Amino acid sequence: MARVGRDAENVLLHGLRKLEYRGYDSAGLALRNGHGVEVFKREGEISRLVSHVGREKPVAEIGIGHTRWSTHGPPTDENAHPHTDCTGEIAVVHNGIIENHGALRRQLEKTGHEFESDTDTEVIPHLIENGIAAGHSPEEAFESTVELLSGSYAIAMIHRGEKTVYAARRGSPLVLGIDESALFLASDVPAFLEFTDRVVYIEDEQLVRISASGYTITERGDEIADQPVVRVEWNGEAAEKGGYDHYMRKEIDEQPSAIRQIVGSHAAADELLDIDPAILDGVSEIQFVACGTSYHAALYGSFLLESRGIPASTYLASEYALHNCSIGENTLVVAVTQSGETADTLAAIDAAKRAGGRTLAVTNVVGSTAARTCDEALYIRAGPEIGVAATKTFSSQVVCLSLFAAQLTGDRSSALADALASLPGDIQRVLDRSKSRKIAARYRDREAFFFIGRGAGYPVALEGALKMKEISYEHAEGFAAGELKHGPLALVTPNTVVFAVFTGHNDDKLLNNVTEVKTRGGTVVAVVDTANEAVLEQANDVLEIPETHPDVAGLLANVQLQLVSYHAANLLGRPIDKPRNLAKSVTVE
Ligand code: AGP
Repeated sequence: MARVGRDAENVLLHGLRKLEYRGYDSAGLALRNGHGVEVFKREGEISRLVSHVGREKPVAEIGIGHTRWSTHGPPTDENAHPHTDCTGEIAVVHNGIIENHGALRRQLEKTGHEFESDTDTEVIPHLIENGIAAGHSPEEAFESTVELLSGSYAIAMIHRGEKTVYAARRGSPLVLGIDESALFLASDVPAFLEFTDRVVYIEDEQLVRISASGYTITERGDEIADQPVVRVEWNGEAAEKGGYDHYMRKEIDEQPSAIRQIVGSHAAADELLDIDPAILDGVSEIQFVACGTSYHAALYGSFLLESRGIPASTYLASEYALHNCSIGENTLVVAVTQSGETADTLAAIDAAKRAGGRTLAVTNVVGSTAARTCDEALYIRAGPEIGVAATKTFSSQVVCLSLFAAQLTGDRSSALADALASLPGDIQRVLDRSKSRKIAARYRDREAFFFIGRGAGYPVALEGALKMKEISYEHAEGFAAGELKHGPLALVTPNTVVFAVFTGHNDDKLLNNVTEVKTRGGTVVAVVDTANEAVLEQANDVLEIPETHPDVAGLLANVQLQLVSYHAANLLGRPIDKPRNLAKSVTVE
């Protein structure tokens, strides 16, 4: 993040706190004041940096800051950004990975540069230092350095001699915020949303210069005068905890309103979705690409399409290019991504485009890279999601994909439409009556947690396991229920808890799998509607969901599983919103 305007240190620290969900193993600031460039860095969370800066009276008008998710070198004070050159006059922050840093570093070391960190980033200030030593201005040196870098980056740089921040972008997000009296650069809008909602999205290969007199954007030497300034829809309050202990819990509770928002904003008279219908012309096959929770939502969407006769396949974005998929003129590649900035997903979109594919982004973030790179964007309109564990955005993604399936197939069966209309109320009932806390307390000391399901219950089982491992650090795995007997059943002991997700898709066969678990001494918690008496008889414990359409039941079951993981993690004292080793937006491949 970078700031030009009064009180830079406090504003930067505030912004870094808002960006902490992107990475939180160390943080730092570089401030330009009358004497030069002052650098503060600390391993650990931003609160440690705040005490380290510990200044009552802010003095800087220009600064850059960073909160890190380590890629090169462990989280230490030395590896925290900003990084400086040998003279200490240049400071740089960077998101992404400099892939040729090894060769650059060897060259720099040979010519006498001394490095203080293990990071790939540190080559950047030293290269700029070389440029300035060769007689270039800081701006020229910055530009020529950027040309030497391969990999992905959003970089910001300050120099002691100028009241200016220089920044560049390739493959990592960078957004400019414009306030009456200040300018900001950040990886994401919440960093400065409290001050302004007017933003300019910086494109790949663009350079930005911000100073007290304004900003300029250039691309390959040409000034871009007409890059649009847009207003973001989110407000600062939506990105606050609002009295909750954790963002995750707040975001779980926001699901009814998030879903009402989708149905409201997309339900125009003739079209179910607020997208250009031309993107769907003649489409007869869908390929989904996504990662993590978004991958599970895509699997759910794929199931809905296939069960309506539309061929659909789902790829982990990081594997997509290796599959060399054939993309016909009637194939639509759909990238599902909450942030719209996940590097693996962006790479899959690029691969699809290179192969001549039509692309649609299903994303939460207006103006995100995925939204701008794909031919069309379908916004899930869930509002900001800050907890690293995705919750409300899974539900909103699946609801959007249900509407997408209905539009593509022309299947507007009233049963499904009614179930979607009742979904916010049904989720509210789950939230109000859930026994998830008791279940979490009862079983939190068990050795392993398995999640099984069939049909739409299968992606929900995968998602249930991901949530559990991500925030509680307990061993958890999700399986297609039929696969248990092909191997994982060997792991079931009296110390295992198996959550069985009943959605109405092959429930009888799922019940067979439940009895197989019980025969081996495992405990079964069924997530099921209470009309299913056969299941109630077999299960050791039950998490109830209201009776609904089988294609929607998985969403209700998922809310129960989100709550179980949340309570288990809370009882175990885990840092729920910022689980170890993870980051919300994974902008490296
Ligand atoms: C979910 O809880 C995870 N934090 C993670 O799996 C996430 O869903 C994944 O990184 C994809 O992110 P995206 O939706 O922003 O692309």
